[in-house]
Amino acid sequence: MVRVFINGYGNIGRRLAAVLSSDKEVQFIGIAKYTADDKTKDAMDNGFDIYVPDWMVNQFKEKGYDITGVISQAISGSDLVVDAAKEGGGYDNKKKLYEPMNKAAIFQGGEDRHGERSVADMIHNSRVNYAKAAGKAYVIQGSCNVSGMGRIMQPLIENFGDRIRRYDVTLIRRWADLEDSKDVKDSIEWDKNPHHQDDVRDFIPASNLYVDAYKVPSRMMHLHQMVIRFNGKAPSKDQIIETFRNEFGVAILNSARGTAAIRKKAMDLGFRHGDTNMVHIHQEVLRVQDDTIKISYSDDQTGMVIPENHLLMQSMILDRPRDEAIKRTDRIFQMTKKRRILEEEFK
Ligand SMILES: NC(=O)c1ccc[n+]([C@@H]2O[C@H](COP(=O)([O-])OP(=O)(O)OC[C@H]3O[C@@H](n4cnc5c(N)ncnc54)[C@H](OP(=O)(O)O)[C@@H]3O)[C@@H](O)[C@H]2O)c1
Repeated sequence: MVRVFINGYGNIGRRLAAVLSSDKEVQFIGIAKYTADDKTKDAMDNGFDIYVPDWMVNQFKEKGYDITGVISQAISGSDLVVDAAKEGGGYDNKKKLYEPMNKAAIFQGGEDRHGERSVADMIHNSRVNYAKAAGKAYVIQGSCNVSGMGRIMQPLIENFGDRIRRYDVTLIRRWADLEDSKDVKDSIEWDKNPHHQDDVRDFIPASNLYVDAYKVPSRMMHLHQMVIRFNGKAPSKDQIIETFRNEFGVAILNSARGTAAIRKKAMDLGFRHGDTNMVHIHQEVLRVQDDTIKISYSDDQTGMVIPENHLLMQSMILDRPRDEAIKRTDRIFQMTKKRRILEEEFK
């Protein structure tokens, strides 16, 4: 049994907690809360042990929240910490807690891979470098966009790699998650320096990839348009679809009107948290033009990285072969079944 603690209980942390607390291979230690707000009640209702910073214990108790102990205590009793801090907070946690206590940690995609606040020397993408994470003490799980790009690019590389000249990706990013209380601003904003290009090159170094990112007023998933240029004539649409036919975590849809239709369908179908946990290729707008292929796919921002974290844990701590890990993750997340259902709903 791996003893796992989740440091953070936001959009990602609470999803991780829901899965890891019910995984029979995991001895779930609990979650960290830093603010004595009603999300603490949500964690209590889910039966999780809650740990808080030592200077906050009284505040939580005064509000009537049931606290198990302090965060440092929980970490010292864990084998692995899954850090789910707000973007950039993982670095301070590593320096103050994980390194001094000699604890392995998974960080999320909002952390830095390079520079002064770098938290790890690799970014994990289960489709590309799963085995490389085995035995590592610190690894970053790529962000949802970065995970999605890897999931699309790697099968293309394996099938057509020597013919691919370059990738140009336009990321159309959702403004906020459904659960976020922050307003969605009526604006389209651009990113001067998107991190995604360098992040993907961390696990696919030879890719000739260029990324532009725009944030739009929506809460319902990201949409990527990936333009792939080939030396000579591009493969046919059928060849591209066949490439993804049996890809884990990739659905091929044909009649979804937009990202909201998929999210609402996932909620109506009772998928946990309304997550599909995958990318969805939109077949009806997949275009082949001379030497160019344009693939548009939506990316379940909050759900994508949860099975990825689960796979990463199995590589880092259990040193399990990828095929076995995928089977286990699929049993827990039911992704193959969800994919079949979505493909039928949007055929
Ligand atoms: N949201 C997404 O769609 C998404 C997708 C992929 C990757 N990610 C990445 O996942 C990470 C978390 O994102 P999120 O969306 O879950 O953020 P979030 O909803 O804003 O939650 C952040 C959490 O961090 C907690 N926190 C505060 N101080 C902390 C500390 N020192 N250590 C640990 N946790 C602390 C907060 O706890 P309190 O509420 O108790 O203050 C809050 O629950 C980021 O790196 C992000 O880039 C997010």
